[in-house]
Amino acid sequence: MRIRTHIETAVFPVAGRGTRFLPVTKASPKEMLPIVDKPLIQYAVEEALEAGARRLVFITGTSKRAIEDHFDNDQELENLLKNQGKSALLRQLRSVLPSYASCIYIRQSAPLGLGHAVLCARPAVGNEPFFVHLADDLIASETPVLSQMVSAFESKRASIIGCELIPHKDTNKYGIVGVEGKGITARIRCIVEKPKPSVAPSNLAVVGRYLLSPLIFKHLAKIGAGAAGEIQLTDGIASLMNEEAVYAHRFTGTRYDCGNKLGYLQATVAYALAHPELGKDFRAHLKKLIKK
Ligand code: UTP
Repeated sequence: MRIRTHIETAVFPVAGRGTRFLPVTKASPKEMLPIVDKPLIQYAVEEALEAGARRLVFITGTSKRAIEDHFDNDQELENLLKNQGKSALLRQLRSVLPSYASCIYIRQSAPLGLGHAVLCARPAVGNEPFFVHLADDLIASETPVLSQMVSAFESKRASIIGCELIPHKDTNKYGIVGVEGKGITARIRCIVEKPKPSVAPSNLAVVGRYLLSPLIFKHLAKIGAGAAGEIQLTDGIASLMNEEAVYAHRFTGTRYDCGNKLGYLQATVAYALAHPELGKDFRAHLKKLIKK
């Protein structure tokens, strides 16, 4: 019998300012944008819990208090729903965070880059492999992507980076990896942050899912600022590769980049169409709209 690996900790870097979504992100977090009836960060937490994580570490910054409130108990609201007999809503409210999960909030002093945000999680993670999940990459899939990556980790016993093939012309928007062979899970031989298409090693792009060895912290601590003056997670991974193998895993699923407006709208429509209560009526409404 195969014994499943348990990854205890998931890190959610949520300290970016979300400038592509201004003005909506001026006072409220991008991660609280709703997709139908749940904020992006809740989809992220559900994916991590399903993959076995129990310790949830949020790297927060300016204007991110709403995330803490979302995962906190709200006794006043619970009492109100109870008194009004709204038991279904009460159940929904209580299921936002199951009691077996715990939340840790660490403040990133300034948005110094994704690599810096991950480094801030070091005291909460310890010496175990851990997930990093970027909530604005929403991925619809039968098996959640972090769970797919745990399976890859069980065979490789090394860091696993979630990747997908993108149009070659877009390589300058992503971290891009060059890999050995054509397998779904393939060893990375190089990783470059946002290369121009003419110099990109491939069109296999890093997206917002990582299962990382704790050795990454040592490397993040020693690299300096890279592209855009930020401490890049990509550079930390490149440095880690000098010490241990790192694998790219091509996940199965449909990704929506909810950090930009078009991707967010596409996700909203896709999730609304798939919604068990709203889907049918929403589809009929869309059909009517498109005919106009
Ligand atoms: P993005 O590149 O999407 O940056 O960060 P952003 O600030 O959120 O959004 P834009 O580009 O200004 O619109 C990728 C992820 O890394 C986190 C963000 O919260 C997001 O989840 N991040 C980025 C941090 O936590 N800290 C940072 O210093 C930078």
